[in-house]
Amino acid sequence: MRERETLIAAAKQARENAHAPYSNFRVGAALRARSGRIYTGANVENATYGLTICAERVAIFKAISEGERGFDALAVVAHSEVLTPPCGACRQLIWEFCGDVEVILANLEGKTAAHRMTELLPHPFDSSFL
Ligand code: THU
Repeated sequence: MRERETLIAAAKQARENAHAPYSNFRVGAALRARSGRIYTGANVENATYGLTICAERVAIFKAISEGERGFDALAVVAHSEVLTPPCGACRQLIWEFCGDVEVILANLEGKTAAHRMTELLPHPFDSSFL
């Protein structure tokens, strides 16, 4: 439980750096690698809208591009009463790089929930088909 709290705190901190002037919906993510390192991300929006990248993918790409492999949990924090789950594109990326990890959702009021990726992305397409 303490590990979950640490990951949520990291995601909440990362959310402070969100660049979300268009939606004003700020999201933070924190990904814990099996090495013990934590990689964080925040959503980064763009005036063309479509080039926006979610907090989860920022955290994953930071970790992967720094040579990290193997992850065991991801926390996502947003200011919403109903906890914010990863979007469909992020679910595909989380599955690719993290597999059946625990995805911890939290808001700023201390509400939390945890899901496995197999629950969030049933019957995924992945490298096993190629
Ligand atoms: N967003 C995330 O960063 N992660 C999510 O899990 C849901 C949505 C961002 C994308 C966009 O900047 C804003 O939230 C509104 O969709």
